Amino acid sequence: MPAVTAVAHPNLALVKYWGQRDLVRQLPLNDSISVNLSGATTTTTVQFDATLDEDEFELDGARPTEKASTRVSAHLEQIRALAGITAYARVWSHNSFPTGIGIASSASGFAALTLAGTRAAGLALDSRALSSLARLGSGSACRSIPHGFAEWRAGTGEESYAVQLAPPEHWDLQIVTVYFDPQPKAISSLEGHRAAPSSPFFEARLQQLGDTLATVRRAVLERDFSTLGMAVEREAISLHLIAMSSRVAEQPQLSGIYYWQPQTLALIHAVQRWRAEGLEVYFTLDAGPAVHLLCEAQNRAALLEAVGALLPTLGGRLLVSTPGMGARVVEEGEGEI
Ligand code: PMV
Repeated sequence: MPAVTAVAHPNLALVKYWGQRDLVRQLPLNDSISVNLSGATTTTTVQFDATLDEDEFELDGARPTEKASTRVSAHLEQIRALAGITAYARVWSHNSFPTGIGIASSASGFAALTLAGTRAAGLALDSRALSSLARLGSGSACRSIPHGFAEWRAGTGEESYAVQLAPPEHWDLQIVTVYFDPQPKAISSLEGHRAAPSSPFFEARLQQLGDTLATVRRAVLERDFSTLGMAVEREAISLHLIAMSSRVAEQPQLSGIYYWQPQTLALIHAVQRWRAEGLEVYFTLDAGPAVHLLCEAQNRAALLEAVGALLPTLGGRLLVSTPGMGARVVEEGEGEI
């Protein structure tokens, strides 16, 4: 069967997904909005081969952990079931960015695997079906399928997928990610989703999200940066308030989940200071210490200079993105590769 190579970018949530209504089928409790990060790429090749005794998976030239291999095989199993084939597959995957730094390699990874895998299995799924399937691998992966800005509709039944809100060229927003040395994440996002409803503030967050979604959606469509930035910043804080006030069932010694490191807080203060000084920049945070800074194109050089001055003290590194493409096939060939 043909070897198919697809690429996908991780995505940054502007309105976050936090809390699931179905832990197995990765169905979220709320809609979310994201933008693909052009500066980071996962490239994945899949080839089904009837002579294999099991799936073979290589990540960045090495054998990945047992846990990662099991997740990949489970996803290939879904693809085999859809295509009605039984052959195992060889999967080669490469990330252009380090894993475990707070940029979701699981999102770009499962988006690229879904597209390359379905094509290699002879399927031609549309964007919605691909997004739904990618979601089963990792929830937020469904948002890496459409190009540019995406909105993931939570839905009420089994169906839940992301659709395009605006193409990448709609807005040359600049996203500067400041990341730190990979640290083992104490609490995975899966555990975070599971624990979220235990926060006494979770219901309040869900109630407020309708307004936040409407504001962010409109701000993206109208390229209203000031409105977008403040809404996105407050939204990130809302997620972290929930995390900090959640109870993790398996770890009763924890009073809450803290994803921040001292550098995270230093950057939050720096952003507030830069704005007071006239540099319009906003931050957002996911389930880790990395900080994503947003600014408009005309402020990119000033932001890079301001962050650059802090890096020697903070010890962080930078990744610069603009709104990125969705998942796409880059090579489709017959036989061995
Ligand atoms: O897709 P998951 O299970 O890794 O969850 C992603 C959670 C956040 O990154 C914190 C928010 C989001 O919407 O991407």
